[in-house]
Amino acid sequence: MKTLAVISRKGGAGKTTLSVNLAIAAHLAGCRTILADIDPQRSASDVLRGREADGPGLLESSAGKLFQARYHAEHERLDLMLIDTPASPEADVVTAINTADLCLLVCRPTFLDIAAVARSAEAVRRLGKNGLIVINQAPAKRAGQEPASVVKAAETLRFCGLPLAAVGLRSRAAFQQSIAHGRSVLEWEPGGAAAQEIGRLWVQVAGQLALPLAAPAARAS
Ligand SMILES: Nc1ncnc2c1ncn2[C@@H]1O[C@H](COP(=O)(O)OP(=O)(O)O)[C@@H](O)[C@H]1O
Ligand SMILES: [Mg+2]
Repeated sequence: MKTLAVISRKGGAGKTTLSVNLAIAAHLAGCRTILADIDPQRSASDVLRGREADGPGLLESSAGKLFQARYHAEHERLDLMLIDTPASPEADVVTAINTADLCLLVCRPTFLDIAAVARSAEAVRRLGKNGLIVINQAPAKRAGQEPASVVKAAETLRFCGLPLAAVGLRSRAAFQQSIAHGRSVLEWEPGGAAAQEIGRLWVQVAGQLALPLAAPAARAS
């Protein structure tokens, strides 16, 4: 059983969007998956409760119960527990990092997000954990050129001491529309640009966690 914590000390970076999409990607790839929602806002729970198709399990929990949750997930022979975290308090984020085999640090290409990720990356390294940084909500390319904000973010994030994911996620309507229907982008727009981004991120995350490496089957519903 592997545990993935999705982290950002900034609200709105995309933790819940990525948690839900990766949990469903894992489920579609045949991993027995549970999403532990430790954010009192319960956004991930709202999404998964609105889901009609079968999907990952949901545990509405808190940071204080994470070790117990992991114990139960192991006992149930699950493959993967994802943790959707709040932006604060810091103690809850540290507990999630401590529980995780891999931390996914979500970062918009903005000064304040990068500064927050730099601090989180330090915490991940101090605790001896593995981390991966993913840029989310990147603006679209213009005339085939990467926007300056994304280039700058990627350059700056190189000094955080954690690797940058091979794929960044653009700001795309599919991420907002799909979640309102309890679905991942893989189901909302199979083969679409957002689905390809999540598919590639899933493959990298699954590889780092040594989970089954099957690409999630895009499924129309
Ligand atoms: N790649 C993306 N493209 C478009 N909208 C996004 C993307 N990622 C997140 N969002 C939107 O940004 C807002 C905040 O995302 P959310 O996942 O709730 O962030 P967090 O959990 O970090 O607070 C939501 O309205 C969500 O739909
Ligand atoms: Mg959230």
